[in-house]
Amino acid sequence: MTTAVLPDLGTGADDLSVWPASTTRLPHGDLTVGGVSLTEIAERFDTPAYVLDEGEVRERCRTYRDAFPDTDVFYAAKAFLCRAMVRWADEEGLGLDVCSAGELELAVTAGFPPERAVLHGNAKSPRDIEAALRLGVGRIVIDSPSEIARLAAAVGPDGHQKVMVRVVPGISAGGHEKIRTGTDDQKFGLSLTDGSAHHAITRILGQPQLELTGLHCHIGSQITDVKPYLAAVRRMVGLMARVRDTHGVTFPELDMGGGHGIAYRPGEPALDLPALARRLRAELAGGCAAAGLPVPRLAVEPGRAIVGPAGVALYRVLAVKHMGARVFVAVDGGMSDNPRPALYGVRYAPRLIGRHSPAGPRTTTVVGRHCEAGDILASDVELPGDIHPGDLLAVPVAGAYQLSMASGYNLVGRPPVVAVHEGRARLLVRRETLEDFRSRDIGG
Ligand code: LLP
Repeated sequence: MTTAVLPDLGTGADDLSVWPASTTRLPHGDLTVGGVSLTEIAERFDTPAYVLDEGEVRERCRTYRDAFPDTDVFYAAKAFLCRAMVRWADEEGLGLDVCSAGELELAVTAGFPPERAVLHGNAKSPRDIEAALRLGVGRIVIDSPSEIARLAAAVGPDGHQKVMVRVVPGISAGGHEKIRTGTDDQKFGLSLTDGSAHHAITRILGQPQLELTGLHCHIGSQITDVKPYLAAVRRMVGLMARVRDTHGVTFPELDMGGGHGIAYRPGEPALDLPALARRLRAELAGGCAAAGLPVPRLAVEPGRAIVGPAGVALYRVLAVKHMGARVFVAVDGGMSDNPRPALYGVRYAPRLIGRHSPAGPRTTTVVGRHCEAGDILASDVELPGDIHPGDLLAVPVAGAYQLSMASGYNLVGRPPVVAVHEGRARLLVRRETLEDFRSRDIGG
């Protein structure tokens, strides 16, 4: 379709800086993403719906490949996974970070090469380990002492499996306490500080069927500053040197995890990826030179920064209510498709689409349709004062940790995912229906 590009009106409300790069304005307040009108998507696929800009996802994969040469980039599937996403990551040369048999099986059955996948998890089930070994996953990241003997037994005396060790370096970073994983007061990994990481490494080195290729750490998520990564690299190099001194072993790989922060609203900071890449490599090279270590091959595991900004959530307004001083705009989705505001207090910037409003801005709270007062999508946002039932709202930066964390709460059903690319829209994941709920419910 052809699109008329309108000038930026220069108002805060019209700021498209956190939208996919392909976003354009149409007359009548509509927007296109990937060359497709959002109001057309809402009509064709109904609401709520998630729109994913394939070009934006691919471009973000390429940004990583360009910024991180000689580095393995594993897309963290937990941010969002479907078969098309698997194919895009594969075609763009990324590896895959999976954390369950489900993610791994979906990826492999969609054609992803298992040797380019790495399996994580603080509590891997027997099914996870069975699937990983059966499918031939590239690396398994050991997260607890008990996993060592379990994994060695599952691999068997004649088997062989590459593994890494998840180290907790004692660095606090991340956008919210629930997503900070670099210190000893949380459940992931093995502590560098109290010696459990070193102890686990010693035990793994004693298991001939497990090939320890290197250390892993993931210090947290939604990190917007390079410095914690540099501090973590220094500590990892320190541990690598101690392992070399004790065991005479040097590791060929170092995985620094993901956590790269993005802006959810205009003006918010995002992690500077080229700066991260440059400084990580310099820190690693400098630290290894000083310690007399060979420089391991670096890996990173971005999830959010690949897919978050490529997604847009579309909702229809169902009700508008004035309660005391507040205006509540209730939409047809909510915490069952996006639990992030409720979980982490995250702020979003929804936008009215499909019409130009003559009304001035009004402070509004956008809420969902679920049976909880905490079902808030965006509190205290500026939206036109005349929003009414039937209006469409679009929420940018909706690609990561929304649908992948979606629930069946209130049996509302999870929304569909529509890919947009070069003027065409296609359904990737269909809407969850009453029939889906009924078919799983086999009692009665
Ligand atoms: N690697 C490991 C081992 C991880 O645990 C994670 C995320 C990643 C990589 C990718 O992190 P990212 O680049 O996407 O920040 N539900 C939360 C985020 C949880 C992150 C869990 N682990 C949220 O919605 O903010």
